[in-house]
Amino acid sequence: MSLNKRNERRIALRAALILTAVCGLLLTEACGVRSDMQDQPRYDAYEKSDFFSDGRSSRDYPEGTVARGHLEENKAFYTGKIDNPDPNAQAATSTDANGNTVVASFPNAVTEFPLPVTKELIDRGEERYKIYCIVCHGQFGEGDGMVVRRGFPKPPTFHDDRLRNAPVGHFFDVITNGWGKMNSYGYQVQAADRWAIVAYIRTLQLSRNPDANLQMTSSANSNTASPANAAKPTAPAANAATTKGGAK
Ligand code: HEC
Repeated sequence: MSLNKRNERRIALRAALILTAVCGLLLTEACGVRSDMQDQPRYDAYEKSDFFSDGRSSRDYPEGTVARGHLEENKAFYTGKIDNPDPNAQAATSTDANGNTVVASFPNAVTEFPLPVTKELIDRGEERYKIYCIVCHGQFGEGDGMVVRRGFPKPPTFHDDRLRNAPVGHFFDVITNGWGKMNSYGYQVQAADRWAIVAYIRTLQLSRNPDANLQMTSSANSNTASPANAAKPTAPAANAATTKGGAK
């Protein structure tokens, strides 16, 4: 090997070493930056704080303020209850053979839909029902869903006289707050979708009893604003007042 060649090799080796060192330095730098970003000066949810006298980092809304989109002033729409409900009006309850809580009177529930009942609303309700309710209540609302067949307590059928005559506000309330052994779905299903599900349950009921005098009437006019992501009502309420036997 000539002297020249050997020199070339030495230089190449040195260059390689320097490159490795520089790369290593850059890598450590990068890691240092990352760990800085990991430890940000912010609070985790529910973390303790020494800054506020009550020791909480989570703060309440300033008094008199409402978060955007949470005004919820349409009581019927957001609760299914009438204005000025009577707090002393007790729902008469009893327990049936399956151990389910049975209510015969619904003193504070609204009897009309607070939004126009349209085909779009019912279709949306069908879709939501099949996501959230079918597992227990079954395809046609008989209370024979797959979870029930595997041992979950059997809910009542939607097709008995009591639930056929129950006002729409009762169904809305059951979805929002739960009922006896049934969980609440208020956090998972938005109010407009809950009404859509109620409209679909009514449709199921009508499909079994086309002559029943079931209420599909709406107290809302077509201008009623519906929240974003909700089923968009299109037809005027007057056209949608009676929908019979619409189940597919
Ligand atoms: C995990 C099973 C389960 C799911 C899912 C479920 N339910 Fe129920 N539901 C029940 C059971 C059980 C009862 C009876 C509870 C009781 O009376 O203690 C019931 C009762 C009801 C009742 C009757 C209330 C009354 O007056 O007797 C309605 C209406 C109802 N559910 C609607 C719904 C709707 C709508 C959904 C979907 C958003 C839904 N449920 C999802 C299990 C379920």
